[in-house]
Amino acid sequence: MPLGKTMGSGPVMWKLLATAVFCSWLSCCTASVSYDSKAIVINGQRRILISGSIHYPRSTPEMWPDLIQKAKEGGLDVIQTYVFWNGHEPQPGKYYFGGRYDLVKFIKLVKQAGLYVHLRIGPYACAEWNFGGFPVWLKYVPGISFRTNNGPFKAAMQKFSKKIVDMMKAEGLYESQGGPIILSQIENEYGPLESELGAAGRAYARWAAQMAVGLGTGVPWVMCKQDDAPDPVINTCNGFYCDYFSPNKAYKPKMWTEAWTGWFTEFGGPVPYRPAEDLAFSVARFIQKGGSFINYYMYHGGTNFGRTSGGPFIATSYDYDAPLDEYGLLREPKWGHLKDLHRAIKLCEPALLSGDPNVIHLGNYQEAHVFKSKSGTCAAFLANYNSRSFAKVAFENMHYNLPPWSISILPDCKHTVYNTARVGAQSAVMKMTPVVYGTGFSWQSFNEEPAASYDDNSFTMVGLLEQINTTRDATDYLWYMTDIKIGHNEQFLRSGKYPVLTVFSAGHALHVFVNGQLSGTAYGSLENPKLTYSEGVNLRAGVNKIALLSIAVGLPNVGPHFETWNAGVLGPVSLSGLNEGRRDLSWQKWSYKIGLKGEALNLDSISGSSSVEWVEGSLMAQKQPLTWYKTTFNAPAGDEPLALDMNSMGKGQVWINGQSVGRYWPAYKASGACGACNYAGYFNEKKCLSNCGEASQRWYHVPRSWLRPRGNLLVAFEELGGNPYGISLVKREVASVCSDIFEWQPTLVNWQLQASGKVNKPLRPKAHLQCAPGQKISSIKFASFGTPEGVCGSFREGACHAHHSYDVFQKYCIGQQSCSVPVVPEAFGGDPCPNVMKKLSAEVICS
Ligand code: GAL
Repeated sequence: MPLGKTMGSGPVMWKLLATAVFCSWLSCCTASVSYDSKAIVINGQRRILISGSIHYPRSTPEMWPDLIQKAKEGGLDVIQTYVFWNGHEPQPGKYYFGGRYDLVKFIKLVKQAGLYVHLRIGPYACAEWNFGGFPVWLKYVPGISFRTNNGPFKAAMQKFSKKIVDMMKAEGLYESQGGPIILSQIENEYGPLESELGAAGRAYARWAAQMAVGLGTGVPWVMCKQDDAPDPVINTCNGFYCDYFSPNKAYKPKMWTEAWTGWFTEFGGPVPYRPAEDLAFSVARFIQKGGSFINYYMYHGGTNFGRTSGGPFIATSYDYDAPLDEYGLLREPKWGHLKDLHRAIKLCEPALLSGDPNVIHLGNYQEAHVFKSKSGTCAAFLANYNSRSFAKVAFENMHYNLPPWSISILPDCKHTVYNTARVGAQSAVMKMTPVVYGTGFSWQSFNEEPAASYDDNSFTMVGLLEQINTTRDATDYLWYMTDIKIGHNEQFLRSGKYPVLTVFSAGHALHVFVNGQLSGTAYGSLENPKLTYSEGVNLRAGVNKIALLSIAVGLPNVGPHFETWNAGVLGPVSLSGLNEGRRDLSWQKWSYKIGLKGEALNLDSISGSSSVEWVEGSLMAQKQPLTWYKTTFNAPAGDEPLALDMNSMGKGQVWINGQSVGRYWPAYKASGACGACNYAGYFNEKKCLSNCGEASQRWYHVPRSWLRPRGNLLVAFEELGGNPYGISLVKREVASVCSDIFEWQPTLVNWQLQASGKVNKPLRPKAHLQCAPGQKISSIKFASFGTPEGVCGSFREGACHAHHSYDVFQKYCIGQQSCSVPVVPEAFGGDPCPNVMKKLSAEVICS
């Protein structure tokens, strides 16, 4: 590939050639991927690329082909993923690339599907992933300081980055070798940290770029949120909107590496969601302002299995309100609405990539962005930024009606094929149907006694230890144990006014046991992981055993030098209300025990679980803290995704056949304000919330591939005292689907019919409804052609309603897996209210 062709032209290029960095990049001059001011160029062609993040360890290899296929059908060209260092190098020099960490397999599957890969090597990931993706051992490399100009860190980072690049090369996975990888990323959002760190930060960022480029991948590198990314590295934007962004050099393309499709859930927080109309608006806005690469973060969020979630306090579900839900099912209408958007954008691709748009002012808040290709094709984006009102605009002698906060796409500068606020795709209401109720499980229990100082593997020291330094994150749990001597002459023994035990902890959760009894619990939050326990404790004369169970809930993944942040009971620990007043316990002898007895015995595994005597269900104590529960069950028939409903439980971890589903914590209720949410107007992660007052996470994904037909082992460790008989195994399926379409709403299909010359009059849209494969439409829950109100799941009739609405759906849809109904008055026995803008809303039950 002649370089001049792919890398733009003119004097800028030659100035660039003079820089040393660029010259080293030239060594890969056979590269078939490059870039210019407009776009990423693949094999000589500028491309508008639609990408989506799917993080391979957040699903199972068995799920990957389906996820990738659904991404392809959704109109994606590229799959983006981080590389998760701590999954691949659990111990220094001991690598793992199997199971959910089979990166090569994942990339090959993407290739098989005909898609490209954007590989974010990092190796810092952030991503709400434990320790931001760094292995915890890295913290203990002598002299290390993360993500700055530090020798030991840079050496480790370079070694791992090279390991990954070499592996990709050996497998022939770069595009320059005929593979699918067209882009790479080094670091992640380093810019903001660099400003904080000053000179050392700047030196590190430069080094990181040079190091990456020196690896000679043959494909461009990006650095996201890195305004000073040195050439030839492309700086890119992350955010809810990125239209305002421009790269640091005119010869770099405008790229959006993280278009946030929703947001993550934290234990204790509500569940965020982002309306499809606003997401589509932000993307159309980016493209109309000359953007040519957009990556949805996340396209499939998936699950933080095991102890992979970061934070602390990041929930086990990483659903993210992504177009593919946690379970890999289509999230409608988001998936479909974006699919329609992608098709509309692709129709404009030749014009979009040709030159700069002509921006025409259409009104106070209205603009047209008009793109013309050399061959004469014309594409236009008509935008209404007003978040409250419709706008009627005139463009090239035609009139267009633009809903609030929306963009219409006209691939021929005449006909609208798509408007971001007009959802043609169906919506779906999902349901969780129990397949095994809690009472159907035959539970057995094993009591995890609070640890004691004479336990095996406990050790004693003076003072309080930091938790991560002690556990090295091999477990969430660390016991802190001490004795308190109470004299017979203590006043409180007579007054009954208990002394108050006060424990300051750096986080994240704490259970306090006094003489073997749970005395109380305290926990922090993502915003403030620290906690204070301060309560009256029932002490007796003589020696009292205090056992504090300190629990880490994921290590931090972001923030300056997060590797130095502490966890655990750092004190002070004190007792007040004694004759002597306050007694400081911080500097007395403390015994420590790392992890739980049940963990050491591997009670979660099939072999380990037989190593102890379990108590039969009928003899089990109720609501007992620190209890292991086990049962077995047979795999339910069918192929719907499965989950455990853990709502009756408090906090703990759950395993299936020895595989950790993750941490559960339904006792942590979501606090926040879950008001109504309008798609129009700027979105942020606090704008649209659900689940307030309920568990932040109730359902926990059980991948089908973890099950065998019979005798699956389900083990839960409960810290607080939940009720296992309330646990049920549920399947996730489509309950109903809805259509909500305006008459005359533009559709791409109709435009294509017109463009082909087959039809020369305006066409009406159709309502398409489709249940999941294997389901049929069994009844019509709602149907109204007229002015219906409400949203899918809660439609109601408006002032105008065609009385035949139900009959039409009854006729076309019942017993079918899918059906289409034209939005025309004649289909409903005539126009129920002439001269009024009507729509058709319908909800049908799938079963
Ligand atoms: C970004 C970061 C991602 C992820 C996201 C929030 O700033 O690059 O890795 O953490 O925020 O979900």
